[in-house]
Amino acid sequence: MKRREFLIGGLGVTAGIAAATSTTFAMGRMMGGSGGMMGSGSYYQPSFARQDFALPALDEGVTVNGKQVFKLNLQSGETRILPKAPTPTIGINQNFLAPVLRFKKNQTVRMEVTNKLNETAALHWHGMILPATQDGGPHQAIKPGNTWVAQWKVINEPATYFYHSHTHNHTAEQVWRGLGGQMQIVDEDRDKQLGIPHQYGVDDFPVILTDRAFEESGHFYYSNTRMQKMQGMHGNVILVNGAANSVLKPKKSLIRLRLHNASNARFYDLHFSDNRPFQLIATDGGLLEQAQTLTSIRLTPADRADIIVDVSDGKTLSLRNKKGYSNLNTGMMGGGSGLDADFDVFHIDASKASKASKVKSFQTSQLVALPTWFKSDLSKVDIATTRKLNLDMQMGPSMMFGSGGFFINNKAFDLNVINEVAKANTFEIWEFHNPSITHHPIHVHNTQFRILDRNGRAPYHWERGLKDTVIVHADEKVRILMPTGPYKDAKMPYMYHCHVLEHEDAGMMGQFTVT
Ligand code: C2O
Ligand code: CU
Ligand code: CU
Repeated sequence: MKRREFLIGGLGVTAGIAAATSTTFAMGRMMGGSGGMMGSGSYYQPSFARQDFALPALDEGVTVNGKQVFKLNLQSGETRILPKAPTPTIGINQNFLAPVLRFKKNQTVRMEVTNKLNETAALHWHGMILPATQDGGPHQAIKPGNTWVAQWKVINEPATYFYHSHTHNHTAEQVWRGLGGQMQIVDEDRDKQLGIPHQYGVDDFPVILTDRAFEESGHFYYSNTRMQKMQGMHGNVILVNGAANSVLKPKKSLIRLRLHNASNARFYDLHFSDNRPFQLIATDGGLLEQAQTLTSIRLTPADRADIIVDVSDGKTLSLRNKKGYSNLNTGMMGGGSGLDADFDVFHIDASKASKASKVKSFQTSQLVALPTWFKSDLSKVDIATTRKLNLDMQMGPSMMFGSGGFFINNKAFDLNVINEVAKANTFEIWEFHNPSITHHPIHVHNTQFRILDRNGRAPYHWERGLKDTVIVHADEKVRILMPTGPYKDAKMPYMYHCHVLEHEDAGMMGQFTVT
């Protein structure tokens, strides 16, 4: 046993708020003592004092000739994430992670992306409906020193979106090192009318969830062993907007949290420490017709959920993850890695929240009208085609020694193969079957879809709005109804893939064109 194995656990959080678990947690014995299964077992277990909530920089671009222009530099440097040692990181206009980009529907945005890294990168606008050439997938790779310009008219609905690396074979590791952030399409007037909090950093907060593992040196720990490829890379340190064990001290008593799972592979099953209810108002691609009152919500990789929390009681609470929902316990690997755990994500200290007047709950009547195709009976939607997509894993030598092992319809991703061809301005049903032993959150580019059913049953309460990513659990069959969008390009494809980024890089991705 090495010294670091004795560092695990016990270092928790000093007294203070609630009876909290730590936002880092102990790795089980399998990590260290028995060696082997988790690779080098070199996860370092740092401890973190409480720190202030990290509010990402806000970038609203500048208006030039009627366009909203954003200058985005991919850069590298060092970042203090651990108390003791800096971590080599990459980011966008900052050394780790990225500013929140805010823009409006119907604006034309122009993203000027300059790659100042010493490696090729691509930057994708996750959730956007836009021409394939502007999508930022692996075909739009940016060589070191080059600038790539993406421009599109924003036709998506106001909601919370994601931008992140999508570099051929390197997405997982680049996102892990920091190449990802949040985008927000906002309509402040409409929010105001509806009583929805919308002031950035005042009553509207990004909550970007990532997990990371570290070496004692401060470097990120990342490994691509068979085990980590299968489960996806998980860490034992939970960050919100890049900071561990942070405390948000809002001055308003009704707050909006834009929950955003930007982790490579971790699933979250979230609730508040006092089990207080909250209201879900938006999913990936827009507001719900009606707010949903929930006490817990599950977010798999790339999921976003805007929730509204009433903190007018002035109490302190934590957003907490409940153990048991992940890819860490599936199949032959069993549990035991210690990475699936109960832990606190971050804390809210509402003692400074205004109590002047009792919080007027935001309007609970209709928020928006979802499009007709979304609400109609399926028989009334003109469906161009139904595609079956089988998500397979092969446990043989290709996975153990090669880079692959992950397939869709028996094919690993090939940059030179177009797997599917769709017609523009139509609707399709995609049926995902998952006969494998782990769960796969499936994302389709250039669309916001409706989840029709899971094994014939209604979708979960938190996924009944516009979505661009859908979890397909082991043994499940999930159907979505998907608009193909207005943009045609016979040559340039869009991607669809598992958003466990290690699975994506290992081959669980395909390409489709829209013609
Ligand atoms: Cu969020 Cu193809 O990615
Ligand atoms: Cu995407
Ligand atoms: Cu997967």
